[in-house]
Amino acid sequence: MTDNTHRMDEINSNNKLNLIVCIGSSCHLRGSRDVVQILEKLVASKDVGDKVNLSGSFCMGECTNGVCVSVNGKKFSLTPSTTESFFEKEIMEVLNK
Ligand code: FES
Repeated sequence: MTDNTHRMDEINSNNKLNLIVCIGSSCHLRGSRDVVQILEKLVASKDVGDKVNLSGSFCMGECTNGVCVSVNGKKFSLTPSTTESFFEKEIMEVLNK
């Protein structure tokens, strides 16, 4: 049986979610360093290091109100205080699908 309904576009060929945090100057001023630290802790505490590829990027052209974070190309604007709820919704829920 083939599983054509599974959203493979959300998971790359390594079976890992690409989670990229902007470390450009604007996002840096808005707390990207804290966001990265929180994400690193969440990845470790949820034990999903083998499913999430966490990396940094220069300016992604979305300098808005928060820190620009992308999940397999989909962009989000985070602050340190919204990072945990973002992780639950956009990372854990996708991984648990
Ligand atoms: S500095 Fe982060 S999107 Fe521009």
